[in-house]
Amino acid sequence: MTDRQKTRPRPNPRRAFAPSYGTILQEGVRRRTVLKGFIAAMGAAVFAPALEATKAEAAESTLTFPELKRVRDTADHWPDGYERQILIRWGDALFADSPEFDVAKLNGKAAERQFGYNNDFTQFLPLPWGEKSSDHGLMVVSHEYATPFLMFPGLTVDNYREKLTEDQIRAVMAAVGVSVFEVRKDGNQWQVVKNGKYNRRIHMSTEIGISGPAAGDDRLKTKADPTGTVVFGTISNCNGGITPWGTMLSGEEGAMDVFAGDYKKLPNQELVERQGWDEDENDIYSVSRVEPRFKFEEEPNEWMRFDWVVEIDPFDPTAKPVKRTSLGRMTHEGAQCCVAPDGRVVVFMGDDDDFEYIYRFVTRDPWNPGDRAANKDLLDHGTLSVAKFESDGTMRWIPLVAGEGPLTAEAGFKTQADVVLATRAAADLVGATPMDGPEGFIPHLGTGKLYVAMTENEDRLPKGQGDDEKEQVNVANPRGPNPHGHLLELVTPGGPDKPDYAAESFKWDVFVLCGNPAKPEDQAMFHPATTSAGWFTDPDNLAVDPAGRLWVTTDGPPPEGIADSVYVMDTEGPGRALPKLIYIAPVGSETCSPTFTSDGSSVFLSVQHPGELRMADNEDATSMEDAGTSWPDFKPGVPARPSLVVLTRSKNGVVGS
Ligand code: FEO
Ligand code: CA
Ligand code: CA
Repeated sequence: MTDRQKTRPRPNPRRAFAPSYGTILQEGVRRRTVLKGFIAAMGAAVFAPALEATKAEAAESTLTFPELKRVRDTADHWPDGYERQILIRWGDALFADSPEFDVAKLNGKAAERQFGYNNDFTQFLPLPWGEKSSDHGLMVVSHEYATPFLMFPGLTVDNYREKLTEDQIRAVMAAVGVSVFEVRKDGNQWQVVKNGKYNRRIHMSTEIGISGPAAGDDRLKTKADPTGTVVFGTISNCNGGITPWGTMLSGEEGAMDVFAGDYKKLPNQELVERQGWDEDENDIYSVSRVEPRFKFEEEPNEWMRFDWVVEIDPFDPTAKPVKRTSLGRMTHEGAQCCVAPDGRVVVFMGDDDDFEYIYRFVTRDPWNPGDRAANKDLLDHGTLSVAKFESDGTMRWIPLVAGEGPLTAEAGFKTQADVVLATRAAADLVGATPMDGPEGFIPHLGTGKLYVAMTENEDRLPKGQGDDEKEQVNVANPRGPNPHGHLLELVTPGGPDKPDYAAESFKWDVFVLCGNPAKPEDQAMFHPATTSAGWFTDPDNLAVDPAGRLWVTTDGPPPEGIADSVYVMDTEGPGRALPKLIYIAPVGSETCSPTFTSDGSSVFLSVQHPGELRMADNEDATSMEDAGTSWPDFKPGVPARPSLVVLTRSKNGVVGS
């Protein structure tokens, strides 16, 4: 389970942090140009000896936990001196009357009363709201997607669409969406409070409002909703965020996968194509068999009613969730909220696809800290912008406003509804910087900086290659191809005391380039003292703990025989960009969304899609029977179950320290 802590060199306080690409980049244009050349020309002879030379003099970070050894295993791993608890698994009871989990008897009614599948976004909100309790709170969790052939026995990837029963399809529809539930720590054990008054499930049949510029638009009207203001369900709930008034923002990421039929018969098929249509990856739940609205031929507008940001009030189980169309339509990864010095709320969002963009929404009005209800419709008014990175180390937020710049009526952007319904096309026109799959976005409240994760982009081309300049390397995405991803650091004006998240322009830098530092061809850039267990690839979600350390979860294991994992690092000081491996997930899992109690004594983590890869060859599992693991139950006939885990220090210390 654990690894012995290595003896680390003592820090030398007089020695400056060994330069990495990040510090080189901070020196400005001249060095930036040098770096561009360096990356292009870099090979084994240049990089490896430099790494070895600096390792010996390594500075030390603030992290003292014993780093894990790399493993790829059917089980999960955590450090010595930590306790790991499974808080809740797919199918576990959320209510006093929830039926026992039994895959053989699963149906929609049962699944609506249970924790959903593939938990992704996870946030601990202390109870009561506004307090700093570290042993009692609400857990707000999204369930991104379901994989029916790994959930039910006897199905395979090739036959499940035909073989799923109606009960199973309904169970899948109820197993995605969002779970809200109360948790309490008794002694050292966290418990789900099954009769918690806020406990709630939201899923593919929940009634949800539509607000903002596209509400009521003809393109959002359906037979079931002639007003274009009410939709049944939320899908593909990936990561998200929490507003200052305590509502959850859930990013719908890739809802098109659930639709069936021939989109080429639609009047606006180019929008489907720009949003992303995968010939092999659609109708993934066979849901159109039980709800025809998910078939283009039956309901030509239903698909436009997904891939938005949904606002959910976890403190009011009767409140109808609302899709806030002002935040644009894309494959929303998350929606991280910050407050500008003048009180306006700023939501940062990645559009998680290759060559897609980074967005920001700034509310028109300041939020009202004294009256929660006054913020109810705050997100309906404001400005959506997209990021353009410049080679001088600045970045600009370009507004996407109908009638401004190239977004003219002639170009198809007569109203703001036209802009939000075709957000990607609007961003194309204003010349935004195409990124390598932007996912996690996190503000560091102690420094006023922000970190953004680009997971990877195998299709990125070197300069001068291909027909489309958009696909070539650019300043903020400097490797082509980029199979391992990278992290950017955005610096707001105003400094740590008054960070202006709403400013028109930020500074930016490369924080780390992921990959194996021992393989020159990876062109990795971490702190030179990074151990053979500490580097990572495919960064996805980011979090900052109460002590200000950056946590990175990964989605896409590197070829070196490693499962997806969780890493922690300092962002300032001698341990800047020096990650350490703190948690290893079971084979085939993605780790998501670390969230902390206010005292830092517990970190909750989502373990999504355990067993999705086979143990034998790390290829996609094709059935429950050949899934890579049956974690965490390891019982015959019981499938692997996505779960929420909690890590605590055995002696109530701060996790990650
Ligand atoms: Fe749900 Fe972009 O990962
Ligand atoms: Ca993600
Ligand atoms: Ca991902």
